[in-house]
Order: sequence, then structure tokens, then C-alpha cells
Amino acid sequence: MAQAEIGLIGLGVMGANLALNIAEKGNKIAVFNRTVERTREFVQEAGALSDQVIGCETIEEFVAAIRPPRPIIIMIKAGDPVDQQMALLKPYLSAGDIMIDAGNANFRDTMRRFDALKDSGLTFIGMGVSGGEEGARHGPSIMVGGTEESWKRVEKVLTSIAAKYNDEPCVAWLGENGAGHFVKTIHNGIEYADMQMIAEIYGILRDGLKMSADEIGQVFGTWNKGRLESYLIEITEKVLHVADPITGKPIVDMILDKAGQKGTGKWSAIEAQTMGIPATGIEAAVAARSISSMKEEREAAEKVLGLPAVAPLAVTDKAAFLKDLEDALLAGKIGAYAQGFAVMAGASKEFGWNLPMPTIARIWRAGCIIRSQFLDEITSAFTKAPDAANLIVTPAFAGLVKETDGALRRVVSAAALGGLPVPALASALGYFDSYRRGRGTANIIQAQRDFFGAHGFDRVDGADSHHGPWGSGLGG
Ligand code: 6PG
Repeated sequence: MAQAEIGLIGLGVMGANLALNIAEKGNKIAVFNRTVERTREFVQEAGALSDQVIGCETIEEFVAAIRPPRPIIIMIKAGDPVDQQMALLKPYLSAGDIMIDAGNANFRDTMRRFDALKDSGLTFIGMGVSGGEEGARHGPSIMVGGTEESWKRVEKVLTSIAAKYNDEPCVAWLGENGAGHFVKTIHNGIEYADMQMIAEIYGILRDGLKMSADEIGQVFGTWNKGRLESYLIEITEKVLHVADPITGKPIVDMILDKAGQKGTGKWSAIEAQTMGIPATGIEAAVAARSISSMKEEREAAEKVLGLPAVAPLAVTDKAAFLKDLEDALLAGKIGAYAQGFAVMAGASKEFGWNLPMPTIARIWRAGCIIRSQFLDEITSAFTKAPDAANLIVTPAFAGLVKETDGALRRVVSAAALGGLPVPALASALGYFDSYRRGRGTANIIQAQRDFFGAHGFDRVDGADSHHGPWGSGLGG
């Protein structure tokens, strides 16, 4: 039997779908799973594609089935299991072979793994794969980090399986070592912010306007035909129209309001904070998931504090208010994406990756969870101004911010007055208002710092005075 082009370890849902996608695109693939039964079951279920699949029951057999230099995708639970799997695999590999971690790894682990293999002749790729099960099976967005040489070895296979946007494959080599996993992490951070802002708008429609799930679904359906067109808006419409088979009520009304999180949103926020780059939309979204998970505590607090004593949302012109909500969501989204791209620009400098911003936007246009029309606009904005300090100062997005920030202001105000929480939308407004203001208020913070701690300050006139004449304070 001819040798496989590539190998894959881990036949869970994502691994199995990715393997079938690889096989379907005409690439021979060797597969291995910790349990032999799963490998056998997978080969059987592959049906017509089983000709392209070499099911292997031992690691030796698996490695021998792949053409050197061997690219081997590891698609298992992120964290220690990846280190353990790599250690098991390593003794069977030879110079030039490439271990590819396709899970949602922390990019710092990826950097460590990459470095650990440096002198062994083996190499490592950290590969972000987005799009869930469906994407893995029919076309994910793929973010690759590793050496350019190792990318060349896998480029053909990955290009064949990636999602396509107008025939352009949504896969790219983004830089050395942790670049791919870092970009995937920020993708997920943006995904968190996107989802949170959708949830906040849903809350205004449900609790402020007292609309039913079905009615809210119709609103999202309309928005999905406009500038908010995206996968997340599309699935929001869909889930709002689904009935619970047990009670017949809308399923969303039967789902507990406690959100899970596996870590990528939190990592995005941590890395942004570490670099001193604001990512308030992502932070608000992570915090909102954390508050959501305190269900019992929130219920107890509602008994003590009650809901805010406010007048119900006063909406005289519903059509105008819905238009404001649509524009506010777009404005909030711009804030979150601008921050996400700014964090990537910071990391690019910090880790020497030279991340290509237009390419990142380009490979997010299809296949991934945040795919949207909007990303095509970001692609074009960064293509025209690749060195822009921030997405919101590119001509197209500056125009969009000016057009929609009034709606964001009205929606955030209405929500605040109506006692409805909109932390992510409010964070976008705060970000715009702070970022666009040449003279802020940190002068008072500097004065305070100097007063109590003699920390010094710079002067607006550039004069060489670094401490204030505080009298009894420490300065002067
Ligand atoms: C994707 C998703 C995927 C996964 C998230 C969910 O890009 O395909 O982001 O990676 O669904 O890890 O993350 P949480 O469980 O943290 O919401």
C-alpha cells in the first residue's frame, strides 16, 4: 500500500472529521487512536473514503505508514495530554518529521514545545483550527505557526481541506513557533466578545421590549441580511426558532443561563493585559461568563437587592430603536475586532512574528466561528493600510464608527436607565470615547501618584519638571 501523505492521532469528534476531510480531498492519511476499537470503528464508518485511510493499531505501524518527512497532526485534549502524546511518539520519529498540535493550545505551551524539539531534528507546528465539527469536516479556517520549511511540507494538504472564500483558501502560515495558536486564541477572544454582545442585545429585546424568542429570532434573521451578516448572527436566529421537544417552549427559554468556558477567552485577556493593550470587549465577555456561572449567588443577590428600581425601557419608535440596536451591535463589534487586532499587532512585535494582519482577516472570512462579511471589510481596510495604528482609524472603519457610535451611545444609555446589563457594549463605547480623545484625564492620576509616591510625571510643555510642589506631600 502507498504511504500516507499525513498522519493524525486522536479520533475524537474534531480529529475524526478532520481526517475524513483530508481523505475526501484525495490525500492518503494514516490514523491512530489511543483505543484500538475507535480506530477500527472510524475506518469502518469512513465508508467510501476508507480507501484513503490507513487505520493503525500501534505507533510503530502508524509512523511507518507515513511518507517522510512525516507531518503528524495531534488532535487531542489541550494541555498535558499533548506533552504525553509527543513523548510517546518522539522515539519513533526521524529528522525532518513534524508534530502538529491542532488543538486549542495555549501559545506559550506551543513555544515551549517548539523550543524543546529544536535540537532534535524534529519540528513542531502549532495550528489553530476553527469551525467546530462542521468546519473540520467540510472546511475549517486554519492558522499555522512554525518554521516556513515545515509549512511548505503541509501547505498542499492544508490548502486542500481549508474553507474557501471566493475560491481563496482560508489557511495561511502566520509566523514562527506560537504565532498560529496565538492568532487562534485571539480569534476565540473576539468570538467571546461577539457572542456576549449578541447576548446583551438579546437581553434588551427579551427583558426590555418583552419580545418572545421567536420574535427576537426574526429580528436577528433580518439583521443577518444586512451589515451584521455573519455565522454567529445566523445561528442565533436559528436557535431562537427551535422548540424544546419536552415542553414545546422555545429551547432557549429552557437553557440554564450559565456559560461554560475552556480558557481561550481568558488567555486573550491575560495576554492583552500583560502587554498593556486594551481588550475591554474580550475582558467584559470573559467576566460576563464568569458572572453567569455564579447562578446561585445571583439568585440570592436578587432576593437581597431586587432588580434595579427603574422605569421600564421607554421606546416610542420601535423601528428606530431596532435600527439603533443593529447599529450598536455593529459598533460594538468594531470595537472588539479593533482591540483583537491591536493585541495581535502588539504580540507580533513582542514575539517577533511579523503577523500579517490582512492575511489573518482574509483567512477568517470563511470556515471559522467568527466568519462574516465584516471580515472582508477588515481585510480590505488592512490591505490598504497594513500599518494602521488601529482598525478604527482606517478610513473605512473611522467612517463606520462615526456613523454608528450615536446608536451605541443611545442603546448603552437606554440599557443603563432600564437596568439591563450591557458590559461589553458599554466597554466599546468607553473605548471609542477614550481612544479618540487627545487630552484625557490621566493627568490627575499622575498627580495623585506623584503626591503619594513621588512617582514623577511628564509635563505638557515638555519642561524638565518631574515632581509637583505638593507642600506636605512627598513631591515638591
Ligand atoms: C472554534 C471554536 C472552538 C471551540 C471553543 C469554545 O473556533 O471552532 O472557538 O475552538 O468551540 O473552544 O470555547 P469555549 O468552550 O471556551 O466557549
